[in-house]
Amino acid sequence: MQESFFQLPEEEMRRIGYQVIDTLIQHYRTLGEKPAGGHKNASEITSLFDEAIPEKGKAFEEILTKAKTDIFPNNMYLNHPRFFAWVPGPSNFISVMADTLASGYNVFSGIERAGAAANQIERLVIHWLTQEMDMGSSAGGVLTSGGSAANLIGLATAREVLLGEDRSKAVIYCSDQTHKSNFKALKILGFTQEQLSILPTDELHQLSISHLQAQVVFDKRVGKSPFCIIANAGTTNTGAVDPLLEIRKICDQEQCWMHVDAAYGGAAWLTSEGRQALHGMNLADSLTIDPHKWLYQPYDIGGILVKNSEHLLNAFQTSASYLKETEGYRNFADKGLQLSRRFRALPLWMSIKHYGLDTFRQAIQYTMSLTNQVASILEELPYWEIMTAPQLGIITFRFAPDSISTELQNTINLRLADHIMDEQGIVLSSTIIRGRTVLRMCTINPNTSCEDLEVTLAYLDFVAHKFHSELTSEGVPSSQKTAS
Ligand SMILES: Cc1ncc(COP(=O)(O)O)c(C=O)c1O
Repeated sequence: MQESFFQLPEEEMRRIGYQVIDTLIQHYRTLGEKPAGGHKNASEITSLFDEAIPEKGKAFEEILTKAKTDIFPNNMYLNHPRFFAWVPGPSNFISVMADTLASGYNVFSGIERAGAAANQIERLVIHWLTQEMDMGSSAGGVLTSGGSAANLIGLATAREVLLGEDRSKAVIYCSDQTHKSNFKALKILGFTQEQLSILPTDELHQLSISHLQAQVVFDKRVGKSPFCIIANAGTTNTGAVDPLLEIRKICDQEQCWMHVDAAYGGAAWLTSEGRQALHGMNLADSLTIDPHKWLYQPYDIGGILVKNSEHLLNAFQTSASYLKETEGYRNFADKGLQLSRRFRALPLWMSIKHYGLDTFRQAIQYTMSLTNQVASILEELPYWEIMTAPQLGIITFRFAPDSISTELQNTINLRLADHIMDEQGIVLSSTIIRGRTVLRMCTINPNTSCEDLEVTLAYLDFVAHKFHSELTSEGVPSSQKTAS
């Protein structure tokens, strides 16, 4: 009989499967008791994985134990209720199971001939999203590995649709709050730094329309050609939304492409409050969304939605002799970067069907209200200043007693983020707003409670005062980090 290389007896598969699921359930049950961050850093754990490639195999139990003790506890838990840094990844259990099924069946969703139903489900999910987001009946899209890939596909599509062979005069406009993945995409697409016009933002961190208009007029006068405006629908820094309607108008006047990066903020459209904040987002020519953020999917699921689905084909459809049998099908491989693709639509489809979209709406609404809760607590604390008001689940603030210099305030705020992680396992991040170091909380996890917020802010306040008295009586110790 032919030796079976990877086949396992049914009983063993079942045992392994149950061990994996039990591991996950135990993890979820105890997640709140674990630190969200403050785990060992990369240099401290190198020795744990200093091993040669094994020629012979081991029992699965032994490997799983190693994973449970050395791998999983040495990563931050981005789905932890006290993880507030960057953009958390709260995820949901149904999608985790759906991902397992998608991997188990190893569905190939690049070409329709190989994955007819998978393609159908992806089209359906994209249809749900484009309809829900009022993008019109010709809209379409493709699921991607995340927001970065989605921005790349959106901007590549813009280039393909609007620019001819000579692209040297084209100018791309965006605000100074734009996510770096857009710059990376433009670089990959061959645009030079000189073709990128990074414009200032106003006091609300929104792209300044007057600067944009003036720059466009100037550029045209010197023979350049406005090509694309990248607008933010929820900046990563503060949640700011650029003036989308005005940007649309300028795009129409100048025949420019409007690419909207709504990677993290776009999901808020599902609530009436979010829809108001994101007014005009649906008018984008291409729109980046990122379901692994605020649509509660596990990594990695992003997506690009376009007003005219044919445009993706213009940019990405190719043919090859070895893919002859795939021609004439509606292939997702013809709409983006990947040929071999995971069945990313399954987790979205299963979780929306199981929980209902209304549960997502409520979770998003609840998590937006958490940021207001943070603001209310801060308003009661002397010496704390809210730097940017709650916007799409993000708030920035700082400890800023008048009695000390801005430099010292910066030092304290920067130290607070590290300290609360090291001592309490609570993770938040810092950023720079108007030249000042601030703390930033992104509260999009529906498992975060008001108590989580109270504990976090009470601890920050306690430690801030401690640092304040240490630094003012002893001066800033030379070994401390200083804000840049
Ligand atoms: C506004 C924005 N755009 C793009 C990205 C990149 O998305 P991803 O990390 O999924 O590639 C992010 C990530 O936080 C983001 O906040």
